[in-house]
Amino acid sequence: MNSTRPDAAPPPAPADDPQSNALWGGRFSGGPAAIMETINASIGFDRKLWRQDIAGSKAHATMLAARGIITTADRDAILKGLDQVAAEIEAGTFQFRTDREDIHMNVEARLRELIGDPAGRLHTARSRNDQVATDFKLWVRDALDRLDADLKALQAALIDRAEEHAGTIMPGFTHLQVAQPVTFGHHLLAYVEMLGRDRGRVRDARARLNECPLGSAALAGTPYPIDRAMTAAALGFDRPTANSLDGVSDRDFALEYLAAGSIVAMHLSRLAEEIVLWCTPQFRFIRLTDAFTTGSSIMPQKRNPDAAELVRGKTGRVIGSLNSLLVMLKGLPLTYSKDMQEDKEPVFEAEETLALCLAATTGMIRDLTVDPAGMRRAAELGFPTATDLADWVVRSLGVPFRDAHHIAGRAVKLAEAKGCGLSDLSLDELCSIDPRFTDDVYRVLTLEASVASRTSLGGTAPDTVRAAVAAARGRFL
Ligand code: ARG
Repeated sequence: MNSTRPDAAPPPAPADDPQSNALWGGRFSGGPAAIMETINASIGFDRKLWRQDIAGSKAHATMLAARGIITTADRDAILKGLDQVAAEIEAGTFQFRTDREDIHMNVEARLRELIGDPAGRLHTARSRNDQVATDFKLWVRDALDRLDADLKALQAALIDRAEEHAGTIMPGFTHLQVAQPVTFGHHLLAYVEMLGRDRGRVRDARARLNECPLGSAALAGTPYPIDRAMTAAALGFDRPTANSLDGVSDRDFALEYLAAGSIVAMHLSRLAEEIVLWCTPQFRFIRLTDAFTTGSSIMPQKRNPDAAELVRGKTGRVIGSLNSLLVMLKGLPLTYSKDMQEDKEPVFEAEETLALCLAATTGMIRDLTVDPAGMRRAAELGFPTATDLADWVVRSLGVPFRDAHHIAGRAVKLAEAKGCGLSDLSLDELCSIDPRFTDDVYRVLTLEASVASRTSLGGTAPDTVRAAVAAARGRFL
């Protein structure tokens, strides 16, 4: 069907156009259809890889000369020319051309314009297949390092605020029902742990990524006497990849970046959801300043936590990127297929989203003001010290916990019926449930006593939280 469309037929290639199929002109005489050029080109997005492409080419040219594959004069011309290309891109004067398809061919074709013949020797013993795998790995490696730094900055903000609020009481929830009192500092430190695991995943991914595909060539290796260890070292890799077929077809490093990033985004989304809840008048736990909220065009009283909602909302982009890449790769036979050109945009999009969401979250954590009275009011609502009452019965009366749970449950029922808190029940009322109650029980029914008692490792007692803050600084910052 498509072949009947007039625009599907390749336009005749101007025989005198030196750029026409410059890189595979031997075999091809016609140029691509306009739509072919459009679907085929990746320069619109892979220009992001220009620094990596130039670094990779410099390492390759240096190695080719060291191995006597090109002359030192050609190497010097190539290195100088590549610096000039870099300067043009940096200065914004470089003309990115769709007819040159991708960043690799744009750089090489411009190099040829600048230095002539020596440029033609740069592509000896390599292919765009190992070139793009190397460039993309270098880019993802930097992205992993940026992600780690952004995660660390958020941890620092959380730890600072946790220290400030090591003793600020709030309700702890299960099922979003008040469960037991905790401190806000303790709650924030939970996120510090999540982000710490995220950073561990980033570190693991970086270590696995750090093998250099350059020298795998098109897929099978090369007959030239190259030194793969040399280019690997020059580009900061630990070693060359062991198998050339795998070297050009592996995109696990991108998947691992997106998988780790998806978990980061999920963590940020959970925190964002809490921020959204916490600043409602119903919760009234925190307030965000004008810096991180918007008003309503119609309801003057509104102060909406848009940044938090967007952090929550953008999570889908990152998870979607992981999904795109998995689906793109899953049916591909070894080695390279053009489908793989689709690997970059999801990663670029996820990287931008993660950087934005992490910066916004760090900003909100530093911006938020806590309403201790609001937190306290909420903590008092749901009989949060019922477990403390049961524990007192166990310890003071020697009753098994299951029976103590039953006794405490009856006290809750009575308080509920009276519309009061547990500590508002009189001793007579408590003794009507179990005659062995004494005055001592009131000691454990306050929120302060409840949190202060939870001194077990990782628990919510303010002193334990302060120690955890100090430990977290040492572990993460
Ligand atoms: N633009 C391509 C990509 O991003 C570069 C590799 C092209 N290789 C090839 N055999 N056509 O995947």
